[in-house]
Amino acid sequence: MIFRQLFDLESSTYTYLLADAITGEAVVIDPVLEQNQRDSRLIKELGLKLLYILETHIHADHITGADLLRAETGAKTAVAKTSGVECADRYLEDGDEILFGSHRLRVIATPGHTNSCLSYYGEGRVFTGDAVLIRGCGRTDFQEGSSEKLFNSVRSKIFSLPEETLIFPAHDYKGVLHSSVREEKKFNPRLNESIGLDVFKGIMSALKLDPPKKIQVAVPANRRCGKTNPA
Ligand code: FE2
Repeated sequence: MIFRQLFDLESSTYTYLLADAITGEAVVIDPVLEQNQRDSRLIKELGLKLLYILETHIHADHITGADLLRAETGAKTAVAKTSGVECADRYLEDGDEILFGSHRLRVIATPGHTNSCLSYYGEGRVFTGDAVLIRGCGRTDFQEGSSEKLFNSVRSKIFSLPEETLIFPAHDYKGVLHSSVREEKKFNPRLNESIGLDVFKGIMSALKLDPPKKIQVAVPANRRCGKTNPA
C-alpha cells in the first residue's frame, strides 16, 4: 500500500493519497484546490490511476480540488448521499465500500460537524474528516451541525473501532499528524470517555467561534464539487 499524508498550510488541511502498490489504483481524500499541481504531479510521478476523489464533508474553510482533479484524471468524485450535492459521480452511504486494487475503505456515516460527514475506515486507519480531530472535534454551529449527533457518531462509530486504529483527521492546527482511537478515548478534552452528552453540548455551545473566513465562497463552490464559477 502506498500512503501519503499531504498538508495545506493555509487551511491546515490534510489530504490523503492511498494506492495499491501493485495495480497503482488510487484514491484521494479531501484534496485542496490550491494544491492541485502538487497532487496531480505526485499522482503522475508515482504512475497511479486515480479511481476516486472522496470528500469527508462539504468543507467551509477551503475549496475542494475534486472537480479539477476529476477533469485531469478521469477519477470519480464521491460525497455523502445526504449532502444534497448534485455534481458528484457517486453518492455514499454508511456501509458502502470503496475498492482500489486489493484494498478497501468502508464508509462510516459520522454526522454532527455537518449533517453529511463521512469517515473512511480500512486496514488500521480511519479518516475522520472533522468529526474527531486530534484532541478536539469539528464545530457544530453551521451546516446543520448538531453536537448531539456528533457525540453519538464519535462514541458509537469511531470509538467502537479497534483501539489501535490510527485516526487521520482533516486538519491539525498544531502539526500533529495522527492519533489513535485509544488516545482520543483517553485524552480528547471534549470527547474522552468520562464526558457525558450534556457536558459535551455545554462545551460546544460555549465555543462562540467566528465563522470560517472563506465560508461564503467555499460552501457554494464545494456544493459544485469545487467549481469556482457557478456557470
Ligand atoms: Fe469542516
